[in-house]
Amino acid sequence: VPVVVMASGTGSLLESLLARVDQGAPFRIVALVVDRKCRAADIAVAHDIPLVDLRVADHPDRAAWDARLTERVAEHAPAWVVTAGFMKILGPTFLSRFGGRIVNSHPALLPSFPGAHGVADALAHGVKVTGATVHLVDAGVDTGPILAQEPVPVRADDTAETLHERIKSVERVLLADVVTALVTRGVVIDGRKADIP
Ligand code: GRF
Repeated sequence: VPVVVMASGTGSLLESLLARVDQGAPFRIVALVVDRKCRAADIAVAHDIPLVDLRVADHPDRAAWDARLTERVAEHAPAWVVTAGFMKILGPTFLSRFGGRIVNSHPALLPSFPGAHGVADALAHGVKVTGATVHLVDAGVDTGPILAQEPVPVRADDTAETLHERIKSVERVLLADVVTALVTRGVVIDGRKADIP
């Protein structure tokens, strides 16, 4: 089953998906979309995965970027799109084309601490437990239907970095498990098969 991954960071979630493919998971990563130079892009190149480097700055406006991004991803005919640290909000054209089949991993227990600083926000708030959330992407920021969550304890000496690394070690497994489940039996929320809109 063809899967397109979108990333813009160190690519540790991409690596965990690639490891799952090597272990025989029934999906393959057909392209990596990035919006900046990043280690995730280097990993894709090292694995001969086609790289789509599409930066908002290279387009006259976000609508043009949204249209071009949709075209470029559609060329790979993905069954699922996985955003793993892709720090751009997806536009309406992309969402209407792939909505219901876009899966995101977020390093907090949504609906708490959405957005680009969920780890630091949770730490600053003084929570004792945070975690990882895998959810379907909708038009909001980290607001789509939740597919899976796992708690991660916060330690007294945690920094945002140490906490984020601990969360990512959970995300690596949770995201790969959810993607494997999706490609084998479709969207299942609360144990029942959800209709893909
Ligand atoms: C992950 O924690 C993801 O939830 C967040 O960005 C991080 C990506 O990490 N959106 P990496 O680039 O895969 O290492």
